[in-house]
Amino acid sequence: MQNNQKIIAIFGGGGFLGKHLMRQLTKLDYRVKVATRNPYLKGYLKPLGNPGQIELFKTNIFYQEDVKKILKNCDFVINLVGILYETRKQKFNQIHAQFPHLLSNLCNEFGIKNLVHISALGVKEGHVSKYMQSKLQGEKNIQDTFRSSVILRPSVCFGPDDKFFNTFASIAQFSPILPLVGGGKTKFAPVYVGDVAKAIIKVLELNNLKPKIYELGGPENYSFRKLMEILLVEIKKKRFLISIPFGIAKFQSYFLQMMNNPLLTPDQVDILRYNNIVSGEHPTLKDLGISGKTIQSILPQYIYRFRAGGQFG
Ligand SMILES: NC(=O)c1ccc[n+]([C@@H]2O[C@H](COP(=O)([O-])OP(=O)(O)OC[C@H]3O[C@@H](n4cnc5c(N)ncnc54)[C@H](OP(=O)(O)O)[C@@H]3O)[C@@H](O)[C@H]2O)c1
Repeated sequence: MQNNQKIIAIFGGGGFLGKHLMRQLTKLDYRVKVATRNPYLKGYLKPLGNPGQIELFKTNIFYQEDVKKILKNCDFVINLVGILYETRKQKFNQIHAQFPHLLSNLCNEFGIKNLVHISALGVKEGHVSKYMQSKLQGEKNIQDTFRSSVILRPSVCFGPDDKFFNTFASIAQFSPILPLVGGGKTKFAPVYVGDVAKAIIKVLELNNLKPKIYELGGPENYSFRKLMEILLVEIKKKRFLISIPFGIAKFQSYFLQMMNNPLLTPDQVDILRYNNIVSGEHPTLKDLGISGKTIQSILPQYIYRFRAGGQFG
């Protein structure tokens, strides 16, 4: 292990985005400290670097002393912590707003050079979704506290292990229909998870004196209906695409949210009321010199497992 390696602290690094980011960081010779609730379940991260290059720390993100232990001696911090739905113990406000507040305060205290925070595309004042409100509050908390921060707002991310395409492909395994909330008209700018990881690397060593925001959308916008059509062609399945008005979807979501891994929550129905595309008000992937990969170039590489004959289907 060399002494001149720069050290990065990653919170939430064992998730979907973290896994795709890790190899890119270790190839660039960074040392990585991963804060996780359960290091024993995140052992798959270690082979993504040289021996000793990735360390895992059991961390309660709301316990200052735990967070301080991670930040000690670090140059950069990346915050990937996020949840898609609330549970009895995990609330949006705590995870998306209070933790960034604590983290940015401690980044000041520890002289961190740059904090990269992952928010979400579509955050804006007056959004009805609690998820979006908490993400916006998190951005504000960081901007108010830590000057050298970069906020990235990705649209829905795709790539191996994604939740979006994999979840709907799983539903199509047993269900003859796929539901289109609000007629499936909501627009998305799906972005390849590897491109989001590249964007994180590009901004990591930015020497910005005031907080910056980037909106990360893929090369094309698609309606939700179109995304389901692309998926069904790729997994070679014919399913009925059934429009469900927002009101009915909201009613159903009150029951669906009781599942262990809820398929739809009332808050997610509210998110679907707004398009999730780049606004043009902030720099994007292009400004970082990244030409986003298309769905067509990536999706076939991992979604084939949902075809009747797998990769030979
Ligand atoms: N994936 C997307 O399509 C997408 C789109 C827009 C924005 N984003 C944002 O990008 C970030 C990363 O997304 P992802 O897809 O990688 O999410 P993910 O796979 O669900 O990973 C999220 C991470 O958050 C951590 N976490 C959750 N609750 C926690 C808690 N109570 N205490 C400590 N850590 C907690 C988990 O860490 P441990 O389990 O290791 O403790 C997990 O590794 C999130 O902020 C998400 O909101 C994602």
